[in-house]
Amino acid sequence: MEISKLNKLITPSGTMAISNKARELKEQGKPVIGFGAGEPDFPTPQYVVEDVQLAAEDTSNHKYSPVAGLDILKEEIVRTSSLYSGINIGKENIVVSNGGKHAILTTFMSLLNPGDEVLIPSPYWTTYPEAVKISGGSPVIVNTEFDEDFKVNKDQLEAHKTSKTKVLVWVSPSNPTGVVYTKKEAEEIYNWAFENNIWILSDELYEHLVYEGVTSPSPAQYDKELKNTIVINGVAKAYSMTGWRVGWIIANKEVIDMAKKIQSHATSNVSNLSQIAAYSALKNGLDATNMMKESFNRRRINAINQFTQIENVELIKSTGAFYLFPNISYYCTNNVIQGVNNSVDFCNWLLDEYYIAFVPGEVFGMNGFLRCSYALSDADLNEGLSRFAKAIKDIK
Ligand SMILES: Cc1ncc(COP(=O)(O)O)c(C=O)c1O
Repeated sequence: MEISKLNKLITPSGTMAISNKARELKEQGKPVIGFGAGEPDFPTPQYVVEDVQLAAEDTSNHKYSPVAGLDILKEEIVRTSSLYSGINIGKENIVVSNGGKHAILTTFMSLLNPGDEVLIPSPYWTTYPEAVKISGGSPVIVNTEFDEDFKVNKDQLEAHKTSKTKVLVWVSPSNPTGVVYTKKEAEEIYNWAFENNIWILSDELYEHLVYEGVTSPSPAQYDKELKNTIVINGVAKAYSMTGWRVGWIIANKEVIDMAKKIQSHATSNVSNLSQIAAYSALKNGLDATNMMKESFNRRRINAINQFTQIENVELIKSTGAFYLFPNISYYCTNNVIQGVNNSVDFCNWLLDEYYIAFVPGEVFGMNGFLRCSYALSDADLNEGLSRFAKAIKDIK
């Protein structure tokens, strides 16, 4: 009996592989320190939990609700999108999904026909190419340069454009690099996409996690009718709510109607209690986010200081999300470390010998790098990075 041909095309989420191995070692009692986390290390704000406890008593929340989301949540999304991102939309421009990840998949399913190409600047968040393939499209990877802060430019996009190019994936701040585009850089790319009639899927999950005053405007600010722009956002990262699974799509009515059709068959509605949790998070403002941000920024500065003292490790001093993406390519060649020929080997070596877990760059399409999440305690961060420094010293 055969299963789908997709089986050969798609791979499981690579960020999970290293965390599984780290978990196994931990269970064996090893003192593992994880730099792999793709989620804040803070609890969800208490007021969210209390609002959900109350909502669980309300029997109307025990029933199906509208496919595109609860009205109270959509009203908050309209309000906060205007307040924080300068996007003016109505409730009819929103579909609430089971997390940003689900919102992205539904968006690709809504846009793509077989053979349609999607430009994905690399390094990229591991789900984008897989979600494109699941939706019948073809991912086109556009490599960017370490020396250019891994920012894609118009010429690189132009070189990969064909008559089948339909969508550009845009994410600022970026996972995995933490890089944030400037307004000028962003505008240049947006104009290129608008001129070429290419959709921009703008993933704004890390919108609030920016440091040193750097921010990127949303393409939706320049495309008021949402002719070319689809915004993906959610509560996972900004409010420490990864487990509640709430994200959303912002798009024009045609895309939203299509996304609703798909979602009506895939999931009906998102759990009412999770939607109320997201509503509570948005309604209560950014105080909790700003407290997390303060900790992230302190750790970011600390991690940058420590990495820059390590020999032959190069680093972009990223100002967004909670990731750094150090260049460890020196250690992946010429048998500098016996048996280490790429960043997967390097990460396995660090985990096996020093019990520190990073995600290898290959997971994000870029050998020679590792993703370092600084969503962990200050004490663990210091201990983990001093083990890293020791590992490098031990090589000689
Ligand atoms: C860039 C980016 N977009 C979207 C998501 C998905 O977030 P969610 O937990 O809401 O599905 C993630 C999660 O890691 C992410 O890093």
